[in-house]
Amino acid sequence: MILTYKAIARNLFVLAASLFPIYVFGQVHENQRGLKDYYKDYFPIGVAVTAKQLSDSVQKNFILNHFNSLTAENAMKMGPIHPEENLFFWKDADEIVAFAQEHNLKVRGHTLCWHNQTPKWMFYDKLGNLVSKEVLLQRLKDHIYAVVGRYRNKVYAWDVVNEAVSDEHDQLLRNSLWYQICGEDFIYKAFQYAHEADPKAILFYNDYNTENPDKRQRIYKLLKKMRDNGVPVQAIGLQAHWSLDDPSQERLESTIKLFASLDLKIQITELDVSIYTNGNQQDKTVSAPVSILTAEREQQQAEQYSMIFKVFRNYKKYISGVTFWNLSDRYSWLDNFPVRGRKNYPLLFDTQLKPKKAYWNVVNF
Ligand code: GLA
Repeated sequence: MILTYKAIARNLFVLAASLFPIYVFGQVHENQRGLKDYYKDYFPIGVAVTAKQLSDSVQKNFILNHFNSLTAENAMKMGPIHPEENLFFWKDADEIVAFAQEHNLKVRGHTLCWHNQTPKWMFYDKLGNLVSKEVLLQRLKDHIYAVVGRYRNKVYAWDVVNEAVSDEHDQLLRNSLWYQICGEDFIYKAFQYAHEADPKAILFYNDYNTENPDKRQRIYKLLKKMRDNGVPVQAIGLQAHWSLDDPSQERLESTIKLFASLDLKIQITELDVSIYTNGNQQDKTVSAPVSILTAEREQQQAEQYSMIFKVFRNYKKYISGVTFWNLSDRYSWLDNFPVRGRKNYPLLFDTQLKPKKAYWNVVNF
């Protein structure tokens, strides 16, 4: 075989690279250090995604650089995945799971039982009447067995019940159709079915406003009852749709301690920090869309992110994952909520996927 000078030079380079990979590639690796690398000694860092995002090469590489866990933003919810009683739409969820398997990422399943994004057929019979408790629980069981069964050994954790606790002071559980038809049993049954369908999956109760002392007390009460009665709930998801001034450090720490006292694992499941101060509540005072990331707001947001990640690091023995709800400020569900058409900038990366001040506060510790 005759080698040209060029080929010899190329072969020498490849040989050198294989002998001295750290030296040759060290710089490149350093430049590509992503969130998940900074947090490798703490917890996995996840992001909520759509199947479409994963087929876009820029976003796909960006995700792989920063995250090592995925949640389907919508694809595994009851409405999208089980639109009719005898029809499942698996494609999007399958793609997300296949992508995760290919790239060795974790997948959190979200969510099996919720009052929103549930298809109407679940609650009604052919005549349009509400079904009995027996029928509804059977449908819930069939749904959970099908979805959890399909992704057994691929999805390591499930948000089994989402947002079942009421926001009202004098009411423990939300007055949803689940509750109206089944009473509180739908919660216990959902966990039982999920555990039967995949005994190894880590099962979560997931909710928002978990740092609000009033609501977290109700959530605590529900979870304590479940733990005392042997219902297989092993973890709590703090959704963490937060804002510039909420939660305070004190509230966040006391929340983590409270749930840890039930011997539950804790994950931050849907993190974003709204640049407005209204958190997850309807802000009725704002009518016209205002959408400015002022320097002051960006600074406050960076400080809030800095505080919350410091707390996560300090409490790492209880925290087994942190997941962001959406990838960058290019798109967030908060662009339309609670004020329709008002842009928000709640994430660590800007609309061009460039790290914001908040990002550097999160990774420089
Ligand atoms: C809740 C749900 C999420 C998502 C957000 C808004 O937090 O758990 O799945 O729908 O609302 O996007």
